[in-house]
Amino acid sequence: MIRTILILLLISSSLLMAHDYHSFAKPEDCALTHAKFDLNIDFENKVISGIAYLSLKKVKNVKEVFIDTKDLDIISVNDISGKALTFELLEKVEFLGRALRIELPNDISEISIRYKTTTKSSALQWLSPEQTKGKKYPFLFTQGQAILSRTWIPVQDSPGIRFTWEANISCDKNLLPVMSGLNPQSKNASGNYHFEMNKPVPAYLIALAVGNLDFKSLGPKTGVYSEPEMLEMSALEFSDLEAMLQAAEALYGEYKWGRYDVIVLPPSFPFGGMENPMLTFATPTILAGDKSLTSLIAHELAHSWSGNLVTNQTWDDFWLNEGFTVYFERRIMESLYGKDYADMLAVLGYQDLIETITDLGNESDDTKLKLNLKGRDADDGMTDIAYEKGCLLLLQLEKMKGRQAFDKFLNEYFNNFAFKSISTEEFLEYISERLALTADELSVMKTWIYQPGLPGEIAIPSSSLFENVDAEIAAFVSGKKEPVQLEVKNWSSHEWLHFLRNLPGNLSLDKVENLDDVFEFTASGNSEIKFAWLMKVIPLGYKKADKAADEFLLSVGRRKFVLPMFKMLAAQPRLKEHAKELYSNARLGYHSVTAQSVDEVFN
Ligand code: BES
Ligand code: ZN
Repeated sequence: MIRTILILLLISSSLLMAHDYHSFAKPEDCALTHAKFDLNIDFENKVISGIAYLSLKKVKNVKEVFIDTKDLDIISVNDISGKALTFELLEKVEFLGRALRIELPNDISEISIRYKTTTKSSALQWLSPEQTKGKKYPFLFTQGQAILSRTWIPVQDSPGIRFTWEANISCDKNLLPVMSGLNPQSKNASGNYHFEMNKPVPAYLIALAVGNLDFKSLGPKTGVYSEPEMLEMSALEFSDLEAMLQAAEALYGEYKWGRYDVIVLPPSFPFGGMENPMLTFATPTILAGDKSLTSLIAHELAHSWSGNLVTNQTWDDFWLNEGFTVYFERRIMESLYGKDYADMLAVLGYQDLIETITDLGNESDDTKLKLNLKGRDADDGMTDIAYEKGCLLLLQLEKMKGRQAFDKFLNEYFNNFAFKSISTEEFLEYISERLALTADELSVMKTWIYQPGLPGEIAIPSSSLFENVDAEIAAFVSGKKEPVQLEVKNWSSHEWLHFLRNLPGNLSLDKVENLDDVFEFTASGNSEIKFAWLMKVIPLGYKKADKAADEFLLSVGRRKFVLPMFKMLAAQPRLKEHAKELYSNARLGYHSVTAQSVDEVFN
C-alpha cells in the first residue's frame, strides 16, 4: 500500500515536472498567471514598445522569477507601486534567447516590464505597402509557435505554462489590429483597441496582426478578415466555415472559445495556417477559387480542441498537437464532404510520410513520435512524423477499439484535459486506462511512440478515386491516351496532385509540353498544383517553367513551398547559380522562419 502510494507520487510528480528545456522559466517555483500588454505599434521605426504587466504565482517561497526573452530591449522592471526591481539578462543561449531574472521582494506578485522589440525580433514581419494586396498600407503580423513569442512579448514561453491575458494596442488610425482573442470588426476613430483572452493559454498562442483589414461575417459564430481586395474571394472560399465548426462540435464536443474567425494574411506568411485562438492565421495560397484547399482551415479549427484546449507539454510531445489535429481534420472533412474525399487526404498524407521517413532514414530518432529536441531549435520537430505518423497511431487505436468507442474516448479526452498541457507519458497512461488496453496493445502503442520508422503491421490508406487517377496516368504514360483524351472531369485539387506527383520521373519533354498545353499547369492559379507541377518538370529540363518558379518564389513566402523549391533548384546544375541570386532577392520578402530554413540550403 505505502509502496503503491510512493510509486504513484513519484510518477505524478515526475509527470508534473516534465521539464521544458526550451524555456528559462521555472514554473515549479514561480509561474505567470495573467499578462496585460500596453503596446504601441510604430510602423515608421518598425518597433513595438510598451509595458508588460505580469501577475505571478509563487509556488515556492522564492526570491526571483525567470522570464523568457529573445532580442528584446528591456528598459526597466518595476513593482506595481512603481518601485524599481533589480533585474539582469543572463547570457544568450542559442535558439532560446536570454533569461530575464527579476528579483522579487517578499510580498511582490505583480511586476511591470518596460521594453521594446528590436530589428532582430523574429516573430515579427513588418511588410511595406508593396508587399500587401492593396499596396497602400503597411502590414505587421506575428508568428509565435514554437518559441518566437519571447521575441515580441516578455513572458514565460513554454507550452506547459498557461495564463490569461489582455492587451491595449494603439496603432495608426487607418489600420485595424486583430489578435488571438475577441476582436473588433471594424476600425474606430481613436486607433486604440482592447483585447482579452479570459481562458488560460500558452504563450505560443498569442498573436497580433495589424493592417488595412476588413471583416465579413460567414455565420453566427464565424467570419473572415483580410485586406478589402481579398475579402470577397476569401468569404467565398470559406463559405462552409460555420458548417465546419458545427461538424467539429458534433464530433468532439462544444467549441469552448466563443467566436471562430480566420484572417487571410499577405503571401509572405510562412505557414499554411496557424491556430491562434479565436482567429486562425492563414496563407492566401489556399484561395484556389473552388474551396478545394480548405482542409487546411479544418485543420486549424481542429486545433481549437487538440492543441489549444489540450496542449503538448513540451515540444518533444508535439505529435500530441499535430497528430490528433490531422486525425480530427480528416474527420471534419469526412462529415462535410464524404469518405472518398477524406480518403484522398489520407493517401496524400501517407505519401508525404513515406517520403519524410525515406529522407530522415528509417532508423532516425527524428522518426520517433516522442522527440528529443534538447539543444536544438524547437521548430525542428515540425515534420510529417508528428502529423502523419501521429495520425496513423490514432487510426490504429480507432481500429483496435472501433470508431464509436474511440469517438467517445476522444470526447472524454478533450474534456478531461481541457485547458491543460499533457505529456506523451500522461497520454499513454490515460489511453491505457480509458481504452482498457491489454498489455500487448500498450506495448504496440509504445513501439509507435518510442521506436523509429513505422511498425510492421499498419493499415495503409487507400482511395478509390485515386485508382481512377492511376489508370489515367498509366494510359497517358503508355501513349494510349493523349492529354485531351484523359478523363479528368470533376477532378479536384487532390486528384490533380496525385496525378502530378505520380507521373514518372523520366517523362519525355514532349509529353510534359503536351500536358502543359492542355492543362496549363505552369500558369495554374492553384498554388498546390502549380508547386507539384514545377517540382516535377523543372528537374526534367522543362525550361518554360523556370520563369514561373522565379515568380512564385518572389511572391510567396510559405515555407512548405519555398524550402523544397529552392532545394530542387539548387540541385539543378543549370539553375544552381541562378537560384542563389534569386534567393538573395526573394529573401528580403520572407518572414524569418522561412529565411532561416532556406539559408541552410545556400550556406
Ligand atoms: N501549428 C501548425 C503550424 C506550426 C507548427 C508553426 C510548428 C510553427 C511550428 C499549424 O497548425 C499547421 O500544422 N500548419 C500546416 C497546415 C496543416 C494543414 C498541416 C502548415 O502551415 O502547412
Ligand atoms: Zn497543425
